Formats: sequence, C-alpha cells, structure tokens
Amino acid sequence: MALTTNIEDLRRIARRRIPRALFDYVDRGSYDELTLRANRADLEAIRLRQRVLVDVSQVALKTSLLGEEVSMPVAIAPTGMAGLIHGNGEMLAARAAEAAGTKFCLSTMSICTIEDVREATKASFWFQLYVFRDRGFSKSVIERARAAGCSALFVTVDLPMRGQRHMDLKHGLTVPPRLTLRNAIDFATKPAWVASVLRARRRGFGNVEAFLKGRGGIIRSGSWANENYDRTLSWRDIDWVRGLWPGKLVLKGILDVEDAKRAAAAGVDGIVVSNHGGRQLDGARSSIAALPEIADAVGDRIDVLFDGGIRSGQDVLKALARGARGCMIGRAFLYGLAADGEAGVRRALDLIRA
Ligand SMILES: Cc1cc2nc3c(=O)[nH]c(=O)nc-3n(C[C@H](O)[C@H](O)[C@H](O)COP(=O)(O)O)c2cc1C
Repeated sequence: MALTTNIEDLRRIARRRIPRALFDYVDRGSYDELTLRANRADLEAIRLRQRVLVDVSQVALKTSLLGEEVSMPVAIAPTGMAGLIHGNGEMLAARAAEAAGTKFCLSTMSICTIEDVREATKASFWFQLYVFRDRGFSKSVIERARAAGCSALFVTVDLPMRGQRHMDLKHGLTVPPRLTLRNAIDFATKPAWVASVLRARRRGFGNVEAFLKGRGGIIRSGSWANENYDRTLSWRDIDWVRGLWPGKLVLKGILDVEDAKRAAAAGVDGIVVSNHGGRQLDGARSSIAALPEIADAVGDRIDVLFDGGIRSGQDVLKALARGARGCMIGRAFLYGLAADGEAGVRRALDLIRA
C-alpha cells in the first residue's frame, strides 16, 4: 500500500478500493449533513494552549475504559456492515484492536456474528445492542453476547428510526449487495474488494440471520431489521436490558446533559456522547460541543466516552481536554479496513496513537 501519513490518506485509498455505494454509506451522513459537518468543524476550531519547557520525554497513553486496561484512550466504535467494507471485516477489525491493545465494539448490524468474532480473537470485546421491536431478538443477542464473554453492552439510544441518508437511497444500497448493471460496472473495477467479499464467511447481517434461521424464517435480514427499529423505545426498556445484562452497561448516543444525568441516575456504567457520526438527527449539535457540560455533570460518577469526527490523536486530545475519558472511532477505522483490511485498521490505530 502507498505511504499513508494520516487518516485522509486511508480515506482516499478506500474511495478507490470499494464500490461507490459502500464508500458513500461510510463517508456520508443524514439529511443535509449539518451535524456531520459540525462534528469536524467544531473539533477543528479548537485551539490548543502551547506551553513550553516541560519535560515530555515520558508520556503514557495507557488508561482504563469501563474498568479494562487499554494501551490508549481510543476504541473501535460499532458500525454496521463492516464485513462488506472488507470480507470478514469485523473479525479483522477485532484482531487489529487486540493487537493494538484496545477494545473493539461489535454492532448488532454486523455481517460477522458474535460467535465469529469470539472465534477470531482471544481478547474480550464489547457488543452494541439495538433494542428491536422483536424483543425476542434483543433477548437472544444479549444472551449470545454473554455466552461469548463480551465485557460491556452498549445500548444505542439515538436510533428510534433510521435517519434518511440520501446517498444510500440514491444508490439503492442493499445487503447483501445486489448485482445490477450499474453495480456490475463498479464491481468490475474493484477486483480486490470483490475477491475479499466472495471469500468471506458471510454477506448478510449475521446476527439477524442466525436468529431468523433459528425460527425457521426465510425473511431477508435487511428488510426485517429495517422494520424492527423501535419508535417506542424509552427509559423503561433500559431497565429491561439491565435485568438481562449483569455486566457493564453503556448508553450510546447521549447528547444532552439532562439525559446524561438521567443515565447516571439509572445506574449505567458509562455513556457515549455521540450523534451517531452525523447519521441520525440532522441539526443536532456536534458531539464536541455537547461534551463539556455532560462531562462536568456526570464525569465523576460514570465513564464518559466520546465519538464523532475523530481523525487524529490531536482530536482525541481535544476530547480528553474537554472531559472525555476515552474516544471511539467509526469512519477512521472503516477507511483503514476498506484500504487494506486488518493491516489498514492497524494503520488507522497507529496513526491516531502517533
Ligand atoms: C458506516 C457506519 C455504520 C454505523 N453503524 C452503527 C451501528 O450499527 N450501531 C451504532 O451504534 N452506531 C453505528 N455507527 C455510529 C458509530 O458507532 C459512531 O458513533 C460514529 O461513527 C462516530 O463518528 P465518526 O465516524 O466520525 O468517528 C455507524 C457509523 C458509520 C460511519
């Protein structure tokens, strides 16, 4: 692979390596993308205080997140469909996180299953839960995550319905990808991607398919999931999840100080200050703008994690300076995965560490 010195280099390679519909699925946001842009613009606008003549020969990045030691305050965020960005993508990213001494969070909407990732790594990983209308599904994946030894459960609370992503609709993005004439031309120019996906263990939503198969279902996992996002989701459901999950519990997608206080009062172990990478409620403020007030209010009681727009170590530093305990990266690792599989994810983590 060409020399890469920052995440933008990985992004440029990713754009050449994977089909356009998938690149846009990763890269773009919902509606007018106001929040997507604000995430980056507000991080970029922060200026650092430059102090000098301090011995910086000994710096340590090691810390703990949710009680687990990590080599740096950066973990991999849950993202749907990583296993289509590169074949077996979730297994590869989990391995890269393990090698880097940090944590990988597996999405409910992954291609590889919980059990695939369990098999691929020795380290424990985190699991992200969408509470679907079919509570039988949610209960069964919670049990599977427990059986796999997942060390924390992240309940995503900012997706009662999917935000409209114009580009996904325009591309007619489906899982598994459908071979249309337009796709065929695009696929033909991405041979490495085609090979990786053809060689992969799965091409559908693994966790959902395993559940539907268990019920003797023949429904397409993509449309089943789309119809199962739950608009009634409320704090009561968090109590329900708590009853099923004795381990570390995190709410992902908190952007308001009142919700953060309520989460802490509900007894969760952590929150992720996040707007889903600008893919959900467009017009919501940037995560970095929301962070300081939330960290001040609850940071002494629970772990305040942060995501949204992290593309460098400096971005991580800015989030820590504003009160985050650690950061999660979404697109930064996906660009690496698209560019060069497991090595690309390692590269993304190394670039941010450096
Ligand atoms: C392609 C993609 C898919 C995502 N899928 C999920 C998901 O399945 N569950 C979830 O909780 N968050 C999901 N997210 C949001 C990420 O976990 C994270 O909040 C976001 O990517 C952070 O912003 P960043 O991409 O600028 O780092 C996804 C993000 C991307 C880019």
